[in-house]
Amino acid sequence: MKLKLAVIFGGMSTEHEISCISGASVIKSLNKDKYDICSIYIDKDGRWFEVLNIEENEKKIINNIIEFLKNFDIVFPVLHGLYGEDGTIQGLFELLKIPYVGCGVLSSSIGMDKVYSKIIFEKAQINQSNYIYVKKYNDKYIYISNNFDEKILELKDILNICEENLKYPMFVKPSNSGSSVGINKVSNKEKLKDAIMEAGRFDKKILIEEGIKGKEVECAVLGNEEIITSCVGEIKVFDKFYSYDAKYNSQESEILIPANISEEKSNEIKVLAEKAFKAIDGRGFARVDFFVEDNTDKVYINEINTMPGFTNISMYPKLFDKSGIKYESLLDKMIEISLYNY
Ligand SMILES: Nc1ncnc2c1ncn2[C@@H]1O[C@H](COP(=O)(O)OP(=O)(O)OP(=O)(O)O)[C@@H](O)[C@H]1O
Ligand SMILES: [Mg+2]
Repeated sequence: MKLKLAVIFGGMSTEHEISCISGASVIKSLNKDKYDICSIYIDKDGRWFEVLNIEENEKKIINNIIEFLKNFDIVFPVLHGLYGEDGTIQGLFELLKIPYVGCGVLSSSIGMDKVYSKIIFEKAQINQSNYIYVKKYNDKYIYISNNFDEKILELKDILNICEENLKYPMFVKPSNSGSSVGINKVSNKEKLKDAIMEAGRFDKKILIEEGIKGKEVECAVLGNEEIITSCVGEIKVFDKFYSYDAKYNSQESEILIPANISEEKSNEIKVLAEKAFKAIDGRGFARVDFFVEDNTDKVYINEINTMPGFTNISMYPKLFDKSGIKYESLLDKMIEISLYNY
């Protein structure tokens, strides 16, 4: 008996296009002898379609999503960003009691939220850059301290707090975003002000953090209670930082596997990747991103991605490929552990 599997791609986030590429890669590589595959496309407005012919772009609207989803043994949401990677769609699957591939509601929403990830990593005592957390509140800002005490302030006061607590360059990020959208690196007060206002257009919650100068390295994890970690890969960035353009449009960044770090460092990173994954209550898989600081060689966690890019040239599958698990069998394993976990 073949497993009835729905692959969902597209979605309402800023990462729609990347999800389409990831989704097409997954669909193409899944073993057709094992799975009876249905492709589901979600457009940017949130309408769901059953894809009848992927090459011809032939599709049929799904009117009753809930009834439609009940046809499957398992669903694989290959969705990045909001409404896909943030626990919302996972909540729908939970309600319907349909097994799904990847992280659950809680870990997905923590992973998507840069501020709450920081709070969990802090609890797990994983080293990370210093940060300030503010919330936009009409034309003012709420400064939220470490113990969640709040103070309503003017933007100029927020700028002072940042300068008192953090060193330039700083990175300003919307807490809930993805693919570097709304993120800016700043080196003076004027730019900091602009960056906070810009980040506020994407999310009320804003994170300002100290920049780390060093290598950008990533580790893939797979499993539920028992975790396999991949080797560590490195991103060589030639843009000013690993921006959306650097990631997807330019030839300016390259992937180096394994990373140009010592075996000892790489082992330290693997341990931290597993720890971070468990700390957010992760299951299934994720990619954990770090910095290794120049001069000090200190490791800093940057973020955890519960639905990393999944095209056949993306970091996540490439890391496991190098570790001896090919793309097709990686997909099998991901599906297998999701079923067993349910
Ligand atoms: N504190 C920091 N120090 C140095 N560089 C940073 C820092 N924060 C972010 N960057 C740079 O900016 C890039 C984007 O930031 P980040 O990874 O936090 O968000 P994102 O890419 O939007 O999230 P996702 O990877 O889920 O798409 C990083 O890959 C890195 O190049
Ligand atoms: Mg990132």
